[in-house]
Amino acid sequence: MTERDLWAEWLISRRDGGDPAMRAASLRQLAVWRDLILDGAHLHVDDHLLDVGTGEGLVGFGALQRLGERGRVTFSDISTDLLDVCRAAADELHVRERCGFVQAPADDLSPIADGSVDVVTTRSVLIYVAAKDRAFSEFHRVLGDGGRLSLFEPINRHMFPGPPDEFMGYSASGVEDLVAKIQCARGSWTDATGPMLDFDDATLEQLAEGAGFSEIEVTLRRRRSVEPVPMTWERFLDSSPNPLVPSWNSVLERLLTPSERTRFSKAMQPRVDVGRRTIRHALATVTAIKA
Ligand SMILES: C[S@@+](CC[C@H](N)C(=O)[O-])C[C@H]1O[C@@H](n2cnc3c(N)ncnc32)[C@H](O)[C@@H]1O
Repeated sequence: MTERDLWAEWLISRRDGGDPAMRAASLRQLAVWRDLILDGAHLHVDDHLLDVGTGEGLVGFGALQRLGERGRVTFSDISTDLLDVCRAAADELHVRERCGFVQAPADDLSPIADGSVDVVTTRSVLIYVAAKDRAFSEFHRVLGDGGRLSLFEPINRHMFPGPPDEFMGYSASGVEDLVAKIQCARGSWTDATGPMLDFDDATLEQLAEGAGFSEIEVTLRRRRSVEPVPMTWERFLDSSPNPLVPSWNSVLERLLTPSERTRFSKAMQPRVDVGRRTIRHALATVTAIKA
């Protein structure tokens, strides 16, 4: 499966371990973040908004609800499957004539003409983009004068690695040695020079400035809470934190010996099944204007 197809498979079925209650909880959280991005975009009713790395269209469809009859949204993504999902949703919502669909990576939006959009939004996409400077230049290029950028990214540097006695927000007391073994081998998650960890809120500000934006506002929100999570150990094992890494099941199988797996499951299963975990967020929003 190519990276483009992995995204569709993960967003649609693997992100929440295929669990409807978990999916509903994620959607509630995503709606809050979507509204934060759209509030930051200060939409005008007839704006043309480009949502980069649109996924299933969370931000794009949210924008269509706020825009007027003449407002338009272009959904762009590297995944053709996800753009098909957005097309189908646009048909279902009878908004197809106000939508465009463009397959393009965030750092090369060449199908989109210079100065052709009023607003660029993106959520949790730059974290997967190595050439973030090129992406910011592209956002600047496609915006018209006075155009607005509103984006939202998790700042993994502030979240990973978590405390050594915790695994994905669950207490890992008694199996800290196994957690260390898993974290060591996680590659993209722990690679400080990779796109997921090579930036923070200050980097985003510098990137926006370097691309030529003015009136840049960056907000970092850090939050720690203990929340109910409708998860079971089986579904947890089927899930993965992002599409570029395999499910926990295959990670454990690859990294732990059979006896270590048994010890890990014995310790972690009841803690996951209890349905509460510590959630740590470090999230940055950036709004900026093309003067
Ligand atoms: C975590 S999802 C976020 C989806 C959507 N923005 C949302 O808020 O629900 C990341 C999205 O970025 C897309 N993506 C990954 N790498 C990309 C890249 N280099 N350029 C553009 N989109 C990319 C994926 O296909 C996926 O749709």
